[in-house]
Amino acid sequence: MCGIVGYIGQKNTKEILLEGLKELEYRGYDSAGIAVLSGGVFNSFKATGKLINLEEKTKEFQTKGFAVGIGHTRWATHGKPTELNAHPHVGESSYVVHNGIIENYAQLKKNLIDEGVTFLSQTDTEVIVHQFEKNLKTTKNAFDAFKKTIKELEGAYAILLVTKAEEEKIFFAKNGSPMLVGINEANEKYFASSDAPLIGHATDVNYFEDGDYGYVSADEIIIYDKNDTKKAPHFAKLATNKLSAQKDGYRFFMEKEIYEQSDVIADTLLGRVSEKEVLFEELDASLFEGINEIKLCACGTSYHAALTASYLFERYAKVKSTVEIASEFRYREPIMSKETLFVVISQSGETADTLETLKMAKNAGLKTLAICNVDNSSMVRLADATILARAGIEKGVASTKAFATQVTIFWMLSLYLAKRNNTLTQAAIEKQLELLRALPLCVKVQDSMHERIKRLSKRYLHGHGFFFIGRDIFFPLALEGALKLKEISYLHAEGYPSGEMKHGPIALADPELFTIALLPEHLLYEKSKSNVEELSARDSTICAISPLAFDKADDFIETKKQKDYMLEFFEMMVVVQLLSLEISVRLGNDVDMPRNLAKSVTVE
Ligand code: G6P
Repeated sequence: MCGIVGYIGQKNTKEILLEGLKELEYRGYDSAGIAVLSGGVFNSFKATGKLINLEEKTKEFQTKGFAVGIGHTRWATHGKPTELNAHPHVGESSYVVHNGIIENYAQLKKNLIDEGVTFLSQTDTEVIVHQFEKNLKTTKNAFDAFKKTIKELEGAYAILLVTKAEEEKIFFAKNGSPMLVGINEANEKYFASSDAPLIGHATDVNYFEDGDYGYVSADEIIIYDKNDTKKAPHFAKLATNKLSAQKDGYRFFMEKEIYEQSDVIADTLLGRVSEKEVLFEELDASLFEGINEIKLCACGTSYHAALTASYLFERYAKVKSTVEIASEFRYREPIMSKETLFVVISQSGETADTLETLKMAKNAGLKTLAICNVDNSSMVRLADATILARAGIEKGVASTKAFATQVTIFWMLSLYLAKRNNTLTQAAIEKQLELLRALPLCVKVQDSMHERIKRLSKRYLHGHGFFFIGRDIFFPLALEGALKLKEISYLHAEGYPSGEMKHGPIALADPELFTIALLPEHLLYEKSKSNVEELSARDSTICAISPLAFDKADDFIETKKQKDYMLEFFEMMVVVQLLSLEISVRLGNDVDMPRNLAKSVTVE
């Protein structure tokens, strides 16, 4: 997701900022920018796309002697990935970079506009710099103005601000988004939103805590905590391994990405869920005119997200929905009707089979929609409309956070269509919106849960097979759980509908057959339970995942009591992801780069 760097010192500030941004590249971004203040003059550059574009733009620009500078890589959440929306954002004589979300930005922006301030971007970030400059007019100094501004902001943020009003300082604030400052013997100061850019430059780092704010100059690091009490920095030695720094302290990218799900779901919801309805400003209402069927087409994990969507579209929006595996669809001479909306789902937007089906649908004159995590990818360019997932770059080959955002989008889209088709009451929609808002918290990984799964995993390293079973949308989740396990543990696993086990697979049941049973409280609990009992009676080893205790299980992973099965779905998604991860770790496999697999399959 977005990344921040900052620098105070005598070296070539531009180079240091660009180098720092490069170290943040692995997080993914769609635009980048820097602002450098030296000798009372600001120079700022922004570019969309790859960092090379920013390097190109700054080719002629050099800094000599003391300077302060800030830089940012952006993954669009609020406003499109344009140059105007790229950071740093500018006021009359100050620049700001920001990660996170300013929740009360709309109100602040309205007040500022009423007072005559002109906004250049669609971002929430821009209010920070204007609010600061407004406060600067009434306070004694820049720090007081900054402090006042921070107190007026609601939401999550890591902020760096530089201003001509005090040109040798960088003002910072941190609340809910990571930020650190590093030092070295040459008396240079480096800021970043993660360790990686600082390695090789700083020797010691101070990780800011939530509520910290203050400023840094060549000689001082002034920090106040959330109660406005001054505190000394707390330095720790900086790690020297870049790859491990990119993992933000997690053992694997996959683990990091599982933990990131709460944030990326929050980003995916951002600006799309109001009190009354789901909004997709990227969709033109005409896309659904004359449509009586939705056909979803994808591969791998994205296919499982599509399967989940088909249940939600039919249940909430009463639209006939069918799902196709792309590699099958392309060669089976399918009948395509113009009343069908053709939806492709792809993390990368480049998977060859899925891309081909999109071309087929376009050639047949169907309206098309892409659900994708990568802007400007082939599918995004080709489809009539796109809804971007905001998962950030996904490095682990086994997809986790991309799946989470895809299903989030489908849940939102089913409500969007329900409103359009009048198939849910307004009260029912509002209840669903409330659940959606609860989603980021629901997928936060609990330490106790992770520890329990770590302990349990040692019992599941052998056997002649795993069956992940579930009903309704928990069937696609069972498929996804089994796929995760196969991909990274190399153990045989299948996802199966619970009710279908008795029609064949139950013949396999014995103590060496592991059943991972998804037993949500709020969806067909009794029916699913009796399916599991049938397996337990035949001595299959049962690991039940449920908020309700189940005495026929050998192992039990207790999930939280939730208000609705959708929240149970997402919590169980985290459980099956962690279970696969921990089994793979115990088997000593390469979690992030499993054998024989590729992140993006661009060949048939
Ligand atoms: C590859 C990956 C899978 C992924 C599938 C579809 O097989 O290993 O993790 O689910 O491609 O990828 P897409 O980018 O289209 O979602």
